[in-house]
Amino acid sequence: MAYDLIIANGTIATASDVFSCDIGIRDGVIVALGHDLGEAAETIDASGKLVLPGGIDSHVHIAQPSGDGIVMADDFASGTLSAAFGGNTTVMPFCMQEKGTSLRETVKDYHKLSEGRCYTDVSFHLVISEPTEQVLGQDLPALIEDGYTSFKVFMTYDGLALNDRQMLEVMSVARETGALVMVHAENDDAIRFLTDRLERGGQIAPKFHGTSRPIPVEREATHRAISLAELVDVPVMIVHVSNREAMEEIQRARSRGLKVYGETCPQYLVLTETDMDGLNMEGAKYVCSPPPRDTASQIACWEGLANGTFNVFSSDHCPFRYDDPAGKLTPKGRTSFRWVPNGIPGVETRLPILFSEGVGKGRITLNQFVALSSTNHARTYGLTKKGSIAIGMDADIAIWDPQRQVTISQSLLHHGSDYTPYEGIAVTGWPVTTILRGQVVIRDGELAGKPGQGGHVARERSQLARPVGAPPHA
Ligand code: URP
Ligand code: ZN
Ligand code: ZN
Ligand code: ZN
Repeated sequence: MAYDLIIANGTIATASDVFSCDIGIRDGVIVALGHDLGEAAETIDASGKLVLPGGIDSHVHIAQPSGDGIVMADDFASGTLSAAFGGNTTVMPFCMQEKGTSLRETVKDYHKLSEGRCYTDVSFHLVISEPTEQVLGQDLPALIEDGYTSFKVFMTYDGLALNDRQMLEVMSVARETGALVMVHAENDDAIRFLTDRLERGGQIAPKFHGTSRPIPVEREATHRAISLAELVDVPVMIVHVSNREAMEEIQRARSRGLKVYGETCPQYLVLTETDMDGLNMEGAKYVCSPPPRDTASQIACWEGLANGTFNVFSSDHCPFRYDDPAGKLTPKGRTSFRWVPNGIPGVETRLPILFSEGVGKGRITLNQFVALSSTNHARTYGLTKKGSIAIGMDADIAIWDPQRQVTISQSLLHHGSDYTPYEGIAVTGWPVTTILRGQVVIRDGELAGKPGQGGHVARERSQLARPVGAPPHA
């Protein structure tokens, strides 16, 4: 047999082209593109379907401890299963350093949690919460060398936030080692001030989460993160950007020649602050940071996807159960929005929402969809064998039915949350078959794979990072 698998008769789209041909796959790799390829152990007929690079979701949270005994609703089995049903073949979760723990031990712990359990490939980012000399001088450079070539830093959250000095220290390590820094940009002191004031006024319902983190909180921190990165001359990725003013900071920096990149997420396209208004604490279902804004911000984020302000579109999947005292509604969470865990699920719905609202409504092209959902994630984070349909690449493929009409509903989804914030949204276009390195994980909407099919992928340096040893530019 010449091939293990042929995907025949489909319409293939990459970040740059749309064409019709068959794909020949051997040993998990794309080895032929053409017609009349010959014999294969298995042939999948993709007539009438779109054949796309498997989705890469470069911002998901799985099995992270969340303080106060709160647990995330997805482990690596359910999180990656949900991802696979949503047309993804790789997800990028975080190894989150907790204060007082070693960064290397943290990485080992997350590997233990994930090994043998995943339905998609996974590739970890690091989160640096305690930039000690050991971390800055030893552990972080060694881990970057081992293929953990990106890390996230937080400007807010108890136990996670770095001050400006610490941001500069970790950014300097990224500069020396060629890593890419991802920044959660919100002004921590401003949030505390506003939160205290709201609570004193008795304004404790989930909807005041949005009031406690208004646009200037995000805009100011975005500006500051960019300025700090400029000071040490290192590229930076601003994650989960929610509004035009933060986008303008990115655009202004780029027009000055700085390497500043942006990510936005589904919640900023289809949710608004008013979703947090729900009675009986229902609004907690939508609490995430930055919070969903207004319709003008939604329009701005769509513009940013179309004009390149954002080069990646991620879910920021961060799943909690709603009806669970260890989830969104802890007894403490009922006393104030301050204690409601931040984050919403979305790894399975990210791509159908972007496809239907974006490609289907003419806001972005099919090529942009592929770039924003897969190719740019691979190039941004150094997944050099992933993110395109080309000879030599991993055979990570999602076959889409572009006509399939689905009304998003919790009952259809496979995540560990007991709700979806996207309930009731009608979409046209759905991923029906997901193939990971030539192995079928989801076939016609049914599970065909098994846990352990996916594994960890060490990465090269980002194409967007600063080359190691490059002289400073003038
Ligand atoms: O609210 C959010 N986004 N929670 C997840 C953690 C983060 O900041 O990305
Ligand atoms: Zn964040
Ligand atoms: Zn410079
Ligand atoms: Zn996140």
